[in-house]
Amino acid sequence: MTNNIYFIANWKMYGRTSSLNSLNKIKTLGKSKKYNKAKIIYLPPYTLIDNFVTKFKKTNISVGGQNCHHIEDYGSFTGFISPKMLKDMGCKYVIIGHSESRNSGETDFDINRKIKAALKKKLKILFCIGENLKEKRKKITHSVLQRQINNGLKGIKNYQKILIAYEPVWSIGTGVIPKNNELQFNVDKIKKILLKKTKKKLPILYGGSVNNQNISNLKNISGIKGFLVGSASLNSKKFIDIIKKTIN
Ligand code: PGA
Repeated sequence: MTNNIYFIANWKMYGRTSSLNSLNKIKTLGKSKKYNKAKIIYLPPYTLIDNFVTKFKKTNISVGGQNCHHIEDYGSFTGFISPKMLKDMGCKYVIIGHSESRNSGETDFDINRKIKAALKKKLKILFCIGENLKEKRKKITHSVLQRQINNGLKGIKNYQKILIAYEPVWSIGTGVIPKNNELQFNVDKIKKILLKKTKKKLPILYGGSVNNQNISNLKNISGIKGFLVGSASLNSKKFIDIIKKTIN
């Protein structure tokens, strides 16, 4: 197990070609030895994957897709992108099961098929799990996480390319993060569920309103191997600050 720390920049449905200009400083950081523990991964919208891959050539920064189809190669599926296409563009990662994709109808079953398809094309998977506010209030967080993990990873034998992103849905885009003891408790629980299911220690990342203010606190949670950053990653200065505050 390496002691890499992951920093995922999830750009969601933001960015245009001119946004590439804002990435010069992060590109420099991505080449520096001082920060070689930082595994930086950008998830741009599909329209910018090519530009990002080109921009980050000869750096340690990788690029990933924001979703993929469950058919790994080609097919008559208007509007969709396959793992093969992501791979062909130079993507190394794909995020699967993000709550915003789950909210538009993606089920555990769909997610499981997508993970399997992406693994066939040798992509690394950022597999998102997390309870929503209703589930948190009903105090069923752990059974929700257990269901998402067990269904999402059903039938998978090789876990080497899978990372888990724990994102409490109520924390995404709200500016609210879990209290330290709650987060620690949930991360420990996820670890246990994963160990039981996979017999392996998969990296667990945290996501949900991570910013350059709360990172100094979040980095104290033990067992977290990195962060999935949405809105703060659109601002390179803030994203770099998050990386520096975590690594230093
Ligand atoms: P946020 O998004 O940092 O804007 O809360 C995180 C995510 O959805 O991955």
